[in-house]
Amino acid sequence: MPDGVSQLIARIDEAVTLRDPDAITQRIKQELQDAIRARSIALPARFHRLRPDSYARRLLHRNDALGYTAVVMTWGPGQRTALHDHAGIWCVEGVVEGGMEVTRFDLIDAGTGPAGAYRFEEKDRVHAAVGSAGSLIPPFEYHILANALDRPSITLHVYGGEMTSCHVFEPADGGRYVRRERALSYDD
Ligand SMILES: [Fe+2]
Repeated sequence: MPDGVSQLIARIDEAVTLRDPDAITQRIKQELQDAIRARSIALPARFHRLRPDSYARRLLHRNDALGYTAVVMTWGPGQRTALHDHAGIWCVEGVVEGGMEVTRFDLIDAGTGPAGAYRFEEKDRVHAAVGSAGSLIPPFEYHILANALDRPSITLHVYGGEMTSCHVFEPADGGRYVRRERALSYDD
């Protein structure tokens, strides 16, 4: 593991001992921004490899004792996620290379109506440049990430656990969304 990455991981180790998700995510957000802006995160070559069909998702680090994972996502031009949740897990996401468009949503109907449909309202849409990081703390955990550029982008995600599945919300008629479970795995 390159020095800068090991250093960042040591700082994340320290941050997750703060216990409170607000304090943890704020601290990690700062550490991530500092490390990216200092250009100290040199990721091994495999984290730069694109996948033709979708963004790539690779495990950078897992600490079972402290209960967190760090995942790198690599995005080709036009690649994006569906609207999704984070399985109730807090997360901090930083842009290491390129630029991302992040659209956050408020859940306004959690499938309680007769049709069991979900409804969302777009809350905001921001362009996240290199060195910026954002956090997400459930229940405010619904968003779409998209590569904003016509060249590759790379993001680093720190999760308060291991996200092995989440829900995606597929657009249906009349502004409704249908919820589906999506299993998540790591690419090589
Ligand atoms: Fe996400």
